[in-house]
Amino acid sequence: MFNPSEFINETIQKIKNEIGDEKAIIALSGGVDSSVCSVLVKKAIGNNLTAIFVNHGLLREGEVEEVCRTFEERLNFVYVDASDEFLDALDGVSDPEKKRKIIGNVFIDVFEREAKKIQAKFLVQGTIAPDWIESEGQIKSHHNLALPGGIVLKVLEPVRDLYKGEVRKIGLELNLPEELIYRQAFPGPGLAVRVIGPLTREKLAICRKADEIVREEIESANLGKNLWQYFAVLTDTKVTGVREDQRNYGYLVVLRFVTSDDAMTAFVPELPWEIIKTISKRITSEISDVTHVSLSLSDKPPSTIEFE
Ligand code: XMP
Repeated sequence: MFNPSEFINETIQKIKNEIGDEKAIIALSGGVDSSVCSVLVKKAIGNNLTAIFVNHGLLREGEVEEVCRTFEERLNFVYVDASDEFLDALDGVSDPEKKRKIIGNVFIDVFEREAKKIQAKFLVQGTIAPDWIESEGQIKSHHNLALPGGIVLKVLEPVRDLYKGEVRKIGLELNLPEELIYRQAFPGPGLAVRVIGPLTREKLAICRKADEIVREEIESANLGKNLWQYFAVLTDTKVTGVREDQRNYGYLVVLRFVTSDDAMTAFVPELPWEIIKTISKRITSEISDVTHVSLSLSDKPPSTIEFE
């Protein structure tokens, strides 16, 4: 049986031994994994940890403010607004893997610029078990990361053998806010992988607004805790609609709700139809560029959770 307080004490000791008096940095996304890691490492080395929160312009409505509010006081915290840099590089890009590559590369550039100012020796990462099981197989837990500008950082992954449920238990034990601990998973590349076809600032704004409506309705009905993820995807398909007696050729938005334990498999949940219909009505009435809403009914496998 997993014992969070034992894990915390042992891990703090290990981190102290490993980092000593050196400096460390972490890329804090505001998700539960990197948040828990930040607070855990802060307990071990205090302000020798700098948490860097990069706004890539692909975040959800209100997220920047929420992350800053939660961590400004708790951590040695640096906020970097790099949204224009990311969105300029992504403008018009359609291919999902190309988007991920661009986001990864710009992220490294931005992060390296900040890391240089701090002269850190260690990089803390909030990797959890499904991240490396799905992507790379058995990689070593302690490795070095050489950034393109020449900085070499020792990588530390304090929760790499844990699953999300265990990380959440640690977060509760560390007194992190419950909204953050039970926040739905959100992909690193953010809304970029939920805008199908060429990415533009306009399409991103539509997707962000639709996502805000989904979150508001699901959370105010208190259904979020039972779902792994709940979001809207802006497709590249246009559908004829009618608004104020005029033909309106707008986008198709797909609603995606899934339950899951670890994101390796996921299932379509039972949800009250009233909620789904309310979300659909709100999206088509509040976003004039959307004429049609449909519902995704596919488990993982064969689908993946995200559309890209
Ligand atoms: P898929 O879509 O592969 O997603 O079923 C599994 C889980 O991972 C998230 N996801 C990502 N997270 N970078 C991330 O950090 C990514 O490129 C990425 N793609 C998917 C997804 O939201 C789900 O929770």
